[in-house]
Amino acid sequence: MIGDNIHPVFDKIKDRKSKEIYLKQRAKVIWFTGLSGSGKTTLASALEKRLFELNYFCQILDGDNVRSGINKNLKFTAEDRIENIRRIAEVSKLFMNCGIILICAFISPTNKIREMAREIIGDEDYLEVFVNTPLEVCENRDPKGLYKKARAGEIKNFTGISAPFEAPSHPFVEIDNSNPKIDETVKELLKAIIPEIKFD
Ligand code: PPS
Ligand code: MG
Repeated sequence: MIGDNIHPVFDKIKDRKSKEIYLKQRAKVIWFTGLSGSGKTTLASALEKRLFELNYFCQILDGDNVRSGINKNLKFTAEDRIENIRRIAEVSKLFMNCGIILICAFISPTNKIREMAREIIGDEDYLEVFVNTPLEVCENRDPKGLYKKARAGEIKNFTGISAPFEAPSHPFVEIDNSNPKIDETVKELLKAIIPEIKFD
């Protein structure tokens, strides 16, 4: 809620969208959601690399990185996760105003949290990608040893173990990432996200 004595200045540039012609890209947010260890970061950075090669301007925002910087004061309570995603969605909007394609990789565990992100970013620019890797697979991978710690009670509120993860009901794209095929998945994502790219 905007406080009583806060007076935001609204955007006076009415034709921001016309810059798309100059930038040759349309700003949007590709929002990866999924369990820890599902492959969000790997897919996000492979997608960024491919988009960069195709001369698109992108910026990745990733949970572990953002939580090491701008959101380092936040923990993993339900309230802090909401605040984490609220800030990310607002930051994404600023990047979008500059014409940049955002690749966001956050667990963003609940429908309520993802709906908030969608609302802040705007429905038509929010493209949700559900990295649907089953919990058992993520736990077997356990690349950072976090599931082991969570099972031992050393990490509280761990998603999938002691904190909820609600699968999105209508993602823009759903990826079964149990057996990662990164190149194929990136191609599938590109086709869905930037339909104007022509593949032979
Ligand atoms: S959230 O739920 O969207 O606010 O989480 P996010 O900002 O994406 O941060 C997830 C990364 O934080 C590490 N980590 C945890 N994840 C889940 N639950 C708990 N309790 C936790 N503690 C630390 C973990 O490395 C997550 O990264 P990914 O890439 O998802 O594995
Ligand atoms: Mg990650």
